[in-house]
Amino acid sequence: MTKRDPDENGWLSSSQAWLDRMPETGDFAREFILDAPMTGRVAASGAKTMLDIGCGDGRFCRMMKAHGLQTFGLDPIAPFIARARARDPDGDYRVGFAEALPFGDATVDLTVFYLSLIDIDDMPTACREAARVVKPGGRVLIANLTSFFTSNGTTGWITGKDGRPYHPLGRYLEERADWVEWDGLRVRNWHRPLSAYMTALLDARLTLTHFDEPMPTGGPADRRARYRRTPFTMIMEWRKSL
Ligand SMILES: C[S@@+](CC[C@H](N)C(=O)[O-])C[C@H]1O[C@@H](n2cnc3c(N)ncnc32)[C@H](O)[C@@H]1O
Repeated sequence: MTKRDPDENGWLSSSQAWLDRMPETGDFAREFILDAPMTGRVAASGAKTMLDIGCGDGRFCRMMKAHGLQTFGLDPIAPFIARARARDPDGDYRVGFAEALPFGDATVDLTVFYLSLIDIDDMPTACREAARVVKPGGRVLIANLTSFFTSNGTTGWITGKDGRPYHPLGRYLEERADWVEWDGLRVRNWHRPLSAYMTALLDARLTLTHFDEPMPTGGPADRRARYRRTPFTMIMEWRKSL
């Protein structure tokens, strides 16, 4: 494999801004929408070992370690892995890409993409890799941005004539990478229609066992109301056959 530029999608240049803005409790989407159902799925799966692919600073690994799992975290961005190791010195965190996981076949009970599939360039290969390293009967658990939302990542929120915030749709069926900016970050995110994810996961010979569009459970009232009108995350769980 040719050597990849670690900053090809902006994550290296944006890493300090990410580390500065992300509290240990997570941002709104993590703390009030995704953490509880993701934790619930991990617990229900009975997994003892978990690989978090695109783990960032390792927050979800630390959370699941606290629930008794043996965790592995992988991310291409060295400053994220350095932060993960600093916060969890006896944890197992590795620099690497989702498209070539440095793990053997059938070595973990669960692989997780926590808001990372939209960042991964070769998503079908990443899904095959996630399925490869999972044991038969194990799970691939995914939290992702919805395709409705990513279809117009560049315009972002706009204020309608009624004064309410709207998030417009755009070019939904066109798969493409867009540069998006927020809070001092500038990264390249993929927009893919939902069918692209479904096709890749089915081609990886996985079976869908759970699908959820979770509601916010807390946080500021205006953020909750806006999220209920325009939800932007979903959870999928896929199973590898025995
Ligand atoms: C939005 S962040 C999410 C980080 C973490 N999962 C969390 O929830 O805090 C997306 C992550 O995907 C990682 N990423 C981007 N391309 C990747 C690839 N090819 N393989 C693995 N991870 C990748 C980025 O470095 C970044 O840490």
